[in-house]
Parts: sequence; structure tokens; C-alpha cells
Amino acid sequence: MAFIQITGLKKHYTSEADCVEALKGVDLAVVEGTFLGVMGPSGSGKSTFLSILGGLAHPTSGKLVIDGIDLYALGGEKLADFRREYLGFVFQSFNLVPYLTAVENVMLPLAVKKMPSAEKRDRALEVLKRVGLAERALHLPSQLSGGEQERVAIARALVNRPPLILADEPTGSLDTATAEEIMALFRELNDEGLTIIMVTHNPENRRYFDRTVVLRDGRVAEDESAAETLKAAG
Ligand SMILES: Nc1ncnc2c1ncn2[C@@H]1O[C@H](COP(=O)(O)OP(=O)(O)O)[C@@H](O)[C@H]1O
Ligand SMILES: [Mg+2]
Repeated sequence: MAFIQITGLKKHYTSEADCVEALKGVDLAVVEGTFLGVMGPSGSGKSTFLSILGGLAHPTSGKLVIDGIDLYALGGEKLADFRREYLGFVFQSFNLVPYLTAVENVMLPLAVKKMPSAEKRDRALEVLKRVGLAERALHLPSQLSGGEQERVAIARALVNRPPLILADEPTGSLDTATAEEIMALFRELNDEGLTIIMVTHNPENRRYFDRTVVLRDGRVAEDESAAETLKAAG
């Protein structure tokens, strides 16, 4: 079975005024080690899709199985454990805590771990080094550039060593050159074995992906692997 198996996924947002069908039945199987891009116009359901994948929003119907675990069959507590163990999140607004240093921000996901704090710090420093920020560990977010803040956010997502990273428009607020550096970093991490699912509206990012799924109006409208993309181009 694929690492991620999505079947008949639907999400409706219901209010007294109306009902929005954000996802209208998505089926997708993702192999471990894939760098998957999720694209599509604004409002097509990308963020909804990613939140469901991340265990942050219950689907209206359908099933999500990651590494053999039926996510939404888990209770709240177990789902929270799953998120901590399996997932790293990277968002467009990096969500760094402004009064904590880079290394302290990276240590946050380790807070619940029974581990000596010196060890937590060492691990956080090691991940900061991995993303090229060893020299900035003691800086506050306000003392870092946008690209550096993004690297801190990536380090924080990696610190628990999750097998799966979910990213929603992670380069959306960066200039082109910095965005390229960040995409190259994601690519490297993927080459090391990490599965990455990234939502983006930027077609420039497409060449970094192994596979690109395009959502339109809550459905999968296109699904191409990089090899097919290259074939189509040439
Ligand atoms: N919490 C919500 N309540 C009601 N409607 C929502 C909510 N979140 C998203 N939607 C609607 O669902 C659709 C898909 O949204 P979203 O998943 O954010 O798309 P995208 O990320 O592709 O822009 C849109 O029509 C949006 O307005
Ligand atoms: Mg979105």
C-alpha cells in the first residue's frame, strides 16, 4: 500500500447561509519519498486538502491512511500524537515566536519530549546547522531576513525527525532568489528520503517536484509525474 492513501475525500463547510463544497471527492496515492506539489487556482481547495492531510480538519467523508494508520479513525489524543510523530508543518507566515531565539523556536516541538534540555538544544542546533543557520542560532526572528526565518521554520518542522513534511505556500512571501534557495533546500531534504507535500500557486516551483497534482474546484484536474512533464515539454 502507498505511504499515503486518500480515498473519496470530501470537505463541506456548512453555515446557516450556505454550504461550500471545498473538496468534492479526491482520490490519491502517494509513494514514500515523493516530493509532491499541489497547485491550482485560489479557492480550489489546496489549503483545505493540506489541513486534512495534516490531521487539522476532519473531512466530511472519505478516508486518509498514512503509513497504514487510518487518521480520522484515531481519537483526538492519538491524532495529536500522530501529528507530533509523523508530521512537520511549514506555513507561509512562519509563525515564529518573536521573543524566542532561533534555537529556542526550533526546540518548541520537543517541549513535550522527555529528554534533557541540553539534548534538546543540541538537536535543535544540529538541525539549524542542516538548514545553513548555525551562525544565527541566538538571533531573534526580527534580527533575521525572510529567508532565514523560513529556514528556522523548516528546522522547527524537522526537529522531531518526521517522515512527512507539509508546506503551504512556504515561499509565498519571499523574493525570487530566496525562494529558489528554499526550494533547493526542500529538494535536498527530499533527496535524503523525506516525503514532502507542498501547496504552491507558483508554476516556477513545479520543476522541483517529482509529481504535480492540480486541483480545480475541489477535484484533481491534472496529475503528472516529472518524467511525464519532461516528455510533454520535449
Ligand atoms: N473555514 C472555512 N469556512 C468556510 N469556507 C471555507 C473555509 N475554508 C475554506 N473555505 C472555502 O473553501 C474553498 C476552498 O478554500 P481553500 O482550501 O482555502 O482553497 P485554496 O487554498 O486553494 O485557495 C473556498 O471556496 C473557500 O472560500
Ligand atoms: Mg490556500
